Amino acid sequence: MSSHCIVQSCSWQQRLVQGALVLLLAVLAHAAQAAEELSAAEQGRDLFETNCMTCHGANMVNPGTVSYDLRKFPADAKPRFVNSVTNGKGQGMPAWRGVIEPAEIDLLWAYVLTRGKL
Ligand code: HEC
Repeated sequence: MSSHCIVQSCSWQQRLVQGALVLLLAVLAHAAQAAEELSAAEQGRDLFETNCMTCHGANMVNPGTVSYDLRKFPADAKPRFVNSVTNGKGQGMPAWRGVIEPAEIDLLWAYVLTRGKL
């Protein structure tokens, strides 16, 4: 039996395989699209909620007394942000080196630039 067939002469097994392939492609295309739809800032928000929110507050809303109010972090100071997140700061801010990848720090930075209005 040949693995290819034109529609009229397909066996039901061949049709089943073809149908499954079409379905699989549709599912994969949808998954790829869903991943693309999350912007850098949205991915950063997910990282923030997992790692930073306990101290810096939901949506970065924070009195700024106990921990830094990230909504006020200077927008032109990305190197300082990367350094503080990587190496920690003062008594309370943990170092995230080896825990959060540099590419993820970029995503967190995109989120910080939204000022919590995402
Ligand atoms: C255990 C509590 C805690 C967690 C968790 C935490 N922080 Fe902080 N963070 C602090 C405190 C406290 C400060 C103020 C440090 C200081 O200036 O002495 C701070 C300060 C900062 C600053 C300002 C540093 C500067 O240059 O002045 C940034 C940026 C920051 N945090 C980002 C983050 C990010 C991003 C995360 C998540 C990956 C995070 N923090 C998780 C407690 C925390």
